[in-house]
Amino acid sequence: MGGWFPRIYDLVMKPLELTRFKQVRTELVRSARGNVLEIGSGTGVNFPFYRHAEKVTAVEPNPLMTKRAVKRMKNTSVPVELYETTAESLPFADNTFDTVIATLVFCTIPDPAKALAEIRRVSKPGAEILFFEHVQMKQPVLRKAQDFLNPLWKRVCDGCNLNRNTLLLIQQSGIEVKSIESFYATLFLSINSVNTKR
Ligand SMILES: C[S@@+](CC[C@H](N)C(=O)[O-])C[C@H]1O[C@@H](n2cnc3c(N)ncnc32)[C@H](O)[C@@H]1O
Repeated sequence: MGGWFPRIYDLVMKPLELTRFKQVRTELVRSARGNVLEIGSGTGVNFPFYRHAEKVTAVEPNPLMTKRAVKRMKNTSVPVELYETTAESLPFADNTFDTVIATLVFCTIPDPAKALAEIRRVSKPGAEILFFEHVQMKQPVLRKAQDFLNPLWKRVCDGCNLNRNTLLLIQQSGIEVKSIESFYATLFLSINSVNTKR
């Protein structure tokens, strides 16, 4: 993982965070309840938005990100515990979490199918699984532009894929999608879904 990316992440994201993203994070993160798992928490940008969680367990593999996240843990109204690990290998028992949340993460996870299988395993039957992700766009011309830009984008943005079809991956994982909201044409999706395992 690149060393400079975590250092500039909050700065680069600031224009988006101050406008639309703030609204999306407020609504999505606020709806997380009970025992919550956050995937790829990065610099901990979601931490101050939790209101109804009993406890948040966050996983993030990049130590330069967790270093920044630790500072944000001081500004939370709910207890947050941080694990330096990947979503593909979660160190938690089956059926542990009431809610799982992932924001702007599934573009970067090297094996998203494995991570989704782990989310299904560690969350309870009926658990809410909340995503806010940038994805492969619906419009053919924009989709082609994403494919064209992806090799450079991926190198510059620490492994982030601009053209990943995360919605399809979620649907293929067996997680049941309940509602989808689009932002910036179809570039960003807020996806509410449920773990329908028995
Ligand atoms: C674009 S950042 C998003 C951070 C934060 N969730 C947010 O909303 O701003 C993507 C994060 O995914 C993390 N990540 C990369 N590979 C991962 C993996 N295999 N499992 C979990 N997180 C991963 C990166 O280290 C990075 O912090």
